[in-house]
Parts: sequence; structure tokens; C-alpha cells
Amino acid sequence: MITLAITSQKGGVGKTTVAINLAHAFARSGRRTLLVDSDPQGSVGLSLTRQSRHLTGFYDLLTDPSLRAESIIVPTRLETLSLVASGHSSAYELGGGAMGAHLHRVRSFLKETEELGFDICIIDTAAGLFGATADILSSSTGVLVPQQAEPLGVRSVPKMLEALARMRVVNPSLQVLGVVMTMVQQHLAESLEAAEALRTILPPEMVMRAVIPRDDLFIKASAKGLPVGVMDEGAGALAVFDGLRAELEGKINFQ
Ligand SMILES: Nc1ncnc2c1ncn2[C@@H]1O[C@H](COP(=O)(O)OP(=O)(O)O)[C@@H](O)[C@H]1O
Ligand SMILES: [Mg+2]
Repeated sequence: MITLAITSQKGGVGKTTVAINLAHAFARSGRRTLLVDSDPQGSVGLSLTRQSRHLTGFYDLLTDPSLRAESIIVPTRLETLSLVASGHSSAYELGGGAMGAHLHRVRSFLKETEELGFDICIIDTAAGLFGATADILSSSTGVLVPQQAEPLGVRSVPKMLEALARMRVVNPSLQVLGVVMTMVQQHLAESLEAAEALRTILPPEMVMRAVIPRDDLFIKASAKGLPVGVMDEGAGALAVFDGLRAELEGKINFQ
């Protein structure tokens, strides 16, 4: 099973949107896909299932050794797509989120999901590389970094990629897949310049060719609890995320 973490230094850059829509694209292509919400704020769950606040989820599993992956996986209308909500994180927060604290639980969760037959597990994370996110990265096969196309944000990206490269000391099989630019505004010079700047400062293979445009449909979709691809006017967004999926398939070594 491929485990793909969606991570960034800052919040609000489009991680959750990328995670949901990319998971949908993988599932539509026939891969048995599990989308895991590891953000204690629980945004994947919030946008995809109304009751997710009450669902037992990822953080419950981290803190309760008797919980099995199977019991927290929720099916969706799409047969190849399942979800894990973030669950109740207060016990986790009380227990401290020091790096390594939950490595064993994260790994056994991933092992169990692999045994359940999933091809890919996409993990949406909270901003930053601390706590559970560090343990997830220590156990992942790949990491993708969404970055909003705005001038100030772009400058911090090389440092983020360096920090991720250092994670490879702990996890040599972690592949830094690169940066995907989000909320790109084709009619705004600053947005295009930021996108251009990123391509200048990073090695070409570190910037995904697919770019996610800014589109109100993403906000409408998350309000409805849907991936944007299932919306009436969602064909364009569906194609963008399918392009990103295909690009990632070219980089990731699926068995
Ligand atoms: N491509 C986009 N176009 C328009 N709005 C977007 C886009 N991507 C994300 N958003 C909106 O921006 C906000 C932050 O996105 P989100 O995916 O939750 O970021 P993160 O998970 O990094 O905090 C949300 O309200 C989301 O609906
Ligand atoms: Mg989020």
C-alpha cells in the first residue's frame, strides 16, 4: 500500500481540499483508496460526513491500543473510497504529541489497512511537522506539499522541503513528491508571479505540472460535503485532479 501524506508548514493553503479531491480521483481511477483525517480540527470529516464529529477516528486509535483500523473505517457512496475521521483528539493532546510517541500505533494502523486491501492511503495532516504528523511522515511512502500561489508563502517552501528531506534520516523510503500550487488565479499578476517564482527557486521535478486554480466551486463543494468532481459544474476540477493523480502515479512506485 502507498501511504501519501499531504503536508504544509502553514494552514489554509489547500491541504484538505487537495486531500479530498485527490483521494476522489484515485478512487475513481479504480484504486482502493482510504482518506484519513489526521487534523485534530477534523476538516476532512467535517466536510464529508455531517456526523463525523461523533465518529471514532484516527486519534482514538492512537490512544486506544484495543481499537482496530477496521472499526474506524467508514464507507462512502463510491465503493473504492473509504474514510477515517479524525476522532477525539483530547486524550492525544493530554498525552503529549512528542515525535515518536505514536509511531507504533501509526504503523500498525497502516499495516492493518494494507491487510484490508487498500491500494493507497491519503493522510490529510494539520499544519506543521510536529507530533502525529512527524510520526505519519516517519511511516509514509510519499509526501505532497500544497502551496498557495501568493508571494510571501512561496519563500518558505525551500525550507519546508529541506525539513522533509531531513525526515528521510528516520524514514529513508519517504519520497518528497514535490509542491502542488493551489488557488492559482490566472488573471492576477501576483499569483502568476508567485507560481513562476516557485518554479525558479525549486528544482523542476519538485513542482507538480498540475496546478489547482482558485475556484468558488471548491468552497461550495466543501459546504455540501462533497468532492468538487461530483458537483454539476465540476468537470474542470475533476480533470485537474485527475491530472495530478496521473502525475503522481508516474512518480510513485505502485506494486
Ligand atoms: N482551489 C481553491 N479555490 C478556492 N477556494 C479554495 C481552494 N482550495 C481551498 N479553498 C478554500 O480555502 C480554505 C482553506 O482550504 P483548506 O483546503 O481547508 O486548507 P488547509 O487544509 O491547508 O487548511 C477553505 O475554505 C477552502 O474551501
Ligand atoms: Mg486542513
